[in-house]
This record gives sequence, structure tokens and C-alpha cells, in this order.
Amino acid sequence: MQLIHKLLNLVLPPITVFAICLMLPFLSIFKVVNFIFRYLFPENIKGKVVLITGSSSGIGEHLAYDYARKGAYLALVDIREDKLREVAEKAGQLGSPDVLVIRADVSKVDQCKQFIDDAVNHFDRLDHLVCNAGMGINCAFEDATNVTNFVQVMDVNFWGSIYPTYFAIPHLKRSRGKIVVTASVSGWMLQPMGSIYGASKAALINFYDNMRVELAPEVSVTIISPGFVESELSKGKALTKQGDVKVDPGFRKMMQGIPFQKTEDCTKAVVAAVCRGDKYITEPWWYNVFYLLKIVCPEVVEWSSYLKYSNRPTTS
Ligand SMILES: NC(=O)c1ccc[n+]([C@@H]2O[C@H](COP(=O)([O-])OP(=O)(O)OC[C@H]3O[C@@H](n4cnc5c(N)ncnc54)[C@H](OP(=O)(O)O)[C@@H]3O)[C@@H](O)[C@H]2O)c1
Ligand SMILES: *[C@@H]1O[C@H](CO)[C@@H](O)[C@H](O)[C@H]1NC(C)=O
Repeated sequence: MQLIHKLLNLVLPPITVFAICLMLPFLSIFKVVNFIFRYLFPENIKGKVVLITGSSSGIGEHLAYDYARKGAYLALVDIREDKLREVAEKAGQLGSPDVLVIRADVSKVDQCKQFIDDAVNHFDRLDHLVCNAGMGINCAFEDATNVTNFVQVMDVNFWGSIYPTYFAIPHLKRSRGKIVVTASVSGWMLQPMGSIYGASKAALINFYDNMRVELAPEVSVTIISPGFVESELSKGKALTKQGDVKVDPGFRKMMQGIPFQKTEDCTKAVVAAVCRGDKYITEPWWYNVFYLLKIVCPEVVEWSSYLKYSNRPTTS
């Protein structure tokens, strides 16, 4: 048995490099032609039904407006109902023919089943499920007063997407629909003081990559990786070391110099990518250079993260 691994160690890398060189020209042509086709003939979502979680503020709110402008029916889900009603009214004015408002906590499995049922009962179908609700985190791992405080980040960011996905699958298969999930560049970049947040997003990326295979060809998946986008979350509303959700006054100071993207610019690009059927979208696009850096020179990424972390302002 040992011999087979020695052999594979020796022959598999050169064979793989050779195969890549052989495939690359054809693969590139396929990708360009495929992109042009999807660009010229995007999905028309007028009259289709879109459910968005975490839509009372930030990215979810503006996704609702962009879908509304394109004439989609909306089911808006959030833990806060008052703010959600304002978003629903504006979405109606922007062109959505009917907006359903549902108050629910995505970290509770029964409530997820309920809101998927409610949306399908109301509209008779579901075309896009947008799993967007999420919470931030702002604390060095060892500083947490109780390690179980972090469980709620996983409950909201990870399970809060998995539960609604599970209940939506039969409806999405029937409509040949789409799943859109808001991950983050933190799912594949280093983010000290956001380790559990990054882990929750990395878990989403891996899960939905597998879903793309398991649910093909009926249901397709778009994974969104926003960088820093203006929202309540990026203003510093996050889980603290005590396990409560607060706005950290030191957060903005730490983020000084980082350009935040306008929420509406982010969501416009996202909805266009979803309608084209892109598998991934990183917004703004330039964050992709960090992916390249991570693969080509991970040491440099680690050292620069260490420098930034060890020189952080000590406010919290
Ligand atoms: N903004 C960024 O820079 C950035 C970057 C990368 C990824 N993201 C991701 O983008 C998504 C949207 O975040 P955002 O930046 O737009 O932040 P946001 O303004 O805080 O919006 C998130 C929404 O989700 C809601 N929510 C939180 N927990 C919930 C729960 N258990 N059940 C139902 N709704 C819940 C929030 O309600 P409450 O405020 O009442 O809790 C809020 O309305 C998140 O998944 C986030 O991780 C954001
Ligand atoms: C941490 O919090 C959990 C849940 O709130 C509690 O059950 C547990 O006893 C706490 N553990 C410690 C070590 O304080």
C-alpha cells in the first residue's frame, strides 16, 4: 500500500501539470463563449418570486430594491419587522408587484420551515432563495469571556442559511431556480478578530460548492463574496467578547483607510451576476488579487496580517 502513495506522489503532479496545459486553451475558449452567451441572455426575473433573508438593512435591503426594479415578487425575511415594512413599501414603489413581509429568526429551524412554507403558499412558487442574513464578530478568539458565545455566529451565519435551503430545495427544483448565498471575502482571506466569522463563511462556501453538484442540473448556485460594504454590520455592529451584539467604537478606527463600497453598487453587480448565472462573484472585483496572493505567497499574507493585528488600536 505504501508503494502506491510513493508512486502517486511522484507521477501525479507532473501528469496534472501536463493535463492542465493541455486543457487550458479549450477551457478558456469555453469560458469566454459561455460568458458571452450568459451576458447576452441573462435570466428575466420579472414576475418571478425571490425570498431574501436579512433584508431589513444593508446588502439584503438593497438586493430587495434591485430585484424590485426588475419586477420580481418579494418575500422579505428579517428578525426586525418594523424596518422590514419600510423596505417592503419602498420595494413596492420601485416595481415589485407584491411584497410579503415575514418576521423570523433564521437560526431557528422551525421558523425557517415556516417562512419557506408561507412564501410558497402566498406566491405558489419560489425562484430565487437569497440566504443573506448574518452577523459580524469583533473579538480576538482568546479574549472571549466564554467560548460558547461564538455558537450564535455559526447558528446565524451557517445554520441560518442551511435550514432555509433545505426546506426550499423541492420548490427550487420545480421552478429550476437559484440559490444565492452571501458569504464574504473573509471566507477565504485572513481576518484576525473575525476568525469565527471567517470560519462560518468558509463553511458556507464549501457547503454550497457541494450543493452545486448535488442539486444540478435543476438548481444553480451563486456564492457572493463582498469585501467591505457599507452596512450596519460594517459600521461595527458585531458580537463582542461578552457575547452581546454592539457597535464597537474602535472598529472604525481599525478600519481607517479601507475604502468601503457603496451598498447599491455591490448589490447591482450581484443581481446582474445572479441573472447571468455566475457561480461566484467577488465585489468589489479587486479583492480577487488577495486570492492570487494567498495561493502564490501565503507567507506574505500571514506576515502582513500579523503586522496589522499586532498594531491594532487597543480600545476593546
Ligand atoms: N457589510 C460588509 O462589509 C459585508 C462583507 C462581507 C459579507 N457580508 C455579509 O453580508 C450579509 C448582510 O450583511 P450586511 O453587511 O448587510 O449587515 P446588516 O446591515 O447588519 O444586515 C444583516 C441583516 O440580517 C439580520 N439578521 C441578523 N441575524 C438574524 C437572524 N437570526 N434572523 C433573521 N435576520 C437576522 C439583521 O437584523 P438585526 O440587525 O436586527 O440583527 C440585519 O437586518 C451578511 O451575511 C454579512 O456577513 C457583509
Ligand atoms: C458558558 O456559557 C454557557 C451558556 O451560556 C454556560 O452553560 C456555561 O456554563 C458557561 N461556561 C463557562 C466556563 O463559564
